[in-house]
Amino acid sequence: MPKPHIPLEEIRAQVEGCHKCPLADGRTQTVFGAGNPKARVLIVGEAPGKNEDLQGVPFVGKAGQYLNELLAIAGLERDDVFIANVLKCRPPGNRDPRPEEIELCTPYLREQTRTIDPEFIVTLGNFSTKFILKTEIGITRLHGTLQRAGKFKVFPIFHPAAAIYDGSKREALENDFATLGELLRASDAAQA
Ligand code: URA
Repeated sequence: MPKPHIPLEEIRAQVEGCHKCPLADGRTQTVFGAGNPKARVLIVGEAPGKNEDLQGVPFVGKAGQYLNELLAIAGLERDDVFIANVLKCRPPGNRDPRPEEIELCTPYLREQTRTIDPEFIVTLGNFSTKFILKTEIGITRLHGTLQRAGKFKVFPIFHPAAAIYDGSKREALENDFATLGELLRASDAAQA
């Protein structure tokens, strides 16, 4: 018998009460994720930054504003998608997630994915791509290529923050979000 899906609000309560790793001590609040609980597209980022930690919502800072523009290129609005992160608490100074933090935190993302049951998972950057695809291949090689993880279609894209620091990533990001829009429309047409 398949395991029943845990309601999102129950997973949220687990995240809010989580003290499995020391990141809990430094957080203002957890960042569970936000958006359409029945989304066809689940976007997975890395970890909350300063603004997300303060507001409790993913991608509300500069990278988030750019993500909104990128979603529009794919014909999507934030309410069409669900946005979550690999880590639910902000690492100090926005350092990279550590392997033990990823191991302790990702059961929440796994349950979110099972409950939302999206058609597509868009992984933003190396950490989410490596976690979802269980690969060591980097985002530079994988971005813009359609992959699979079990029943899910996975579409890796550079992290939007990468374009803020390195303008040359902008074109790749914008092309990949345009391709995502095409993939969604092609899947709609195939199901019509
Ligand atoms: N970067 C991320 O990966 N996630 C956020 O929520 C914000 C910035």
